[in-house]
Amino acid sequence: MKRVFWLIIPLIVALIFSPQKQNNTCKSYLSYFNIFFSSDCYHNPDQDDDILGIIQRHVGVHETHEVQTDDGYFLTLFRIPRQNPRGVIFFQHPLTTDARVWVGQYNESVAFLFWRAGYDVWLGNIRGSHCCKKHVSLDPTEAAFWNFSFHEIGYYDNHASIEYVKQQTGGSKIIYLGYSLGGTSGMVYASTRDKEAVDSVKMMVVITPTTHLQLSCTSLLKYLLFISYNLQGVVSLADPLFVFNRQDAWYAKMGRFLVTHFPCKKCMLYFSYLFVGFPEDAFEPDLINMFVRVHMSEYPLKMLYHYYQMYVVDGIFQRYDYGEEGNLLQYGTKEPTSYLLENIKVPVYIVSGANDNLDCPNAIEKLYNLLPKNSTAHGKLMVEGFNHLDYAYGRYRNEKVYFKILQLLDKIHLDDQNCLH
Ligand SMILES: *[C@@H]1O[C@H](CO)[C@@H](O)[C@H](O)[C@H]1NC(C)=O
Ligand SMILES: *[C@@H]1O[C@H](CO)[C@@H](O)[C@H](O)[C@H]1NC(C)=O
Ligand SMILES: *[C@@H]1O[C@H](CO)[C@@H](O)[C@H](O)[C@H]1NC(C)=O
Ligand SMILES: *[C@@H]1O[C@H](CO)[C@@H](O)[C@H](O)[C@H]1NC(C)=O
Repeated sequence: MKRVFWLIIPLIVALIFSPQKQNNTCKSYLSYFNIFFSSDCYHNPDQDDDILGIIQRHVGVHETHEVQTDDGYFLTLFRIPRQNPRGVIFFQHPLTTDARVWVGQYNESVAFLFWRAGYDVWLGNIRGSHCCKKHVSLDPTEAAFWNFSFHEIGYYDNHASIEYVKQQTGGSKIIYLGYSLGGTSGMVYASTRDKEAVDSVKMMVVITPTTHLQLSCTSLLKYLLFISYNLQGVVSLADPLFVFNRQDAWYAKMGRFLVTHFPCKKCMLYFSYLFVGFPEDAFEPDLINMFVRVHMSEYPLKMLYHYYQMYVVDGIFQRYDYGEEGNLLQYGTKEPTSYLLENIKVPVYIVSGANDNLDCPNAIEKLYNLLPKNSTAHGKLMVEGFNHLDYAYGRYRNEKVYFKILQLLDKIHLDDQNCLH
């Protein structure tokens, strides 16, 4: 046992200090056990790069913009610009990650797919994420900086970002594409700023929008959040303003290092399936380390507690619960007020996965039925076999999801042109 220990230590030290060019990607799960020697493995430069480097390598043009929200946060928007585009599309990312999720699939990245199809592509980042830790008066070391959930993302961040993109691109309506948290915040935006949304957004595509999580959804997250939520006031780690995923913390760095070098990738995936559902098709083996790299943005537990609240009330999409007194102060009612989905006038297209156990099919069905019939006139897309992560890392994401979205956008584009004549 001791001997093994003395062999492993130098190996880890060598890995930490070795040049960045070591193999980090394999074409099959099994090859990860033999990553340094298998001919199936290679070095993928995207994994060592930041978002602009990745866009530079695959497309060659990019811009960086900054917007300020009404409540004082500065957000960075990345753009892959295009002259005379087919349309302008704004992407809003899921929780735990940032705009990098849209360029996290190498040369087949989602953002590049839309750019190659002729779109002017804008990538949003929410407050507190990798690039966005600036505020007019608050510092990210203060708890007050992290006092937000998906409500603020929808009401402030989406509002500021969408209006900015619209204004920068000539004032025409844009397309909104939000995934998971990006879908939740999209629905917050469309219901709380319903008039603005109709003027600014031509179509909201919401991929697994997580608005009506309920007890019938079986994700392990439900149970972990139950424990954490009930430890508030007892353990400081369970405080709503506790920041999750602190990037510079030693335990986070060590965790990432271990996960990246842990050879049994299938074991990791099976563990994650307890949280996101067992998919029918494989998670693309090439993308597994990129996935670990891209999903490391910081966020407050309050974000997860707001989601947990949906389970507590078994599938109601409502504002954050501050307790009776707090709610009276915030909303003027003892219970947190619900989002008025019936206000939504902008067209909504919902994409969801049949094997998703987090935003499970019942939850999607509930949202779909609560939206005004007029706004869902284009129907919805339920993808067979997809779990919560397949839209970013599933092998068939393009065929089953993004090509279909592009087709729908083409159709809307044609309808618009016909209306003009
Ligand atoms: C990376 O993998 C290739 C096979 O694709 C192998 O020839 C090479 O030696 C490996 N390089 C390193 C640094 O492990
Ligand atoms: C991406 O790269 C792979 C291999 O390098 C290639 O087979 C594929 O055609 C490329 N895809 C695009 C969209 O360029
Ligand atoms: C967080 O926001 C709520 C609601 O606005 C407020 O009541 C509370 O005092 C805030 N907490 C901190 C630490 O800023
Ligand atoms: C439904 O949508 C159409 C086209 O988007 C619009 O002309 C019509 O006024 C809408 N009807 C209602 C009741 O909102």
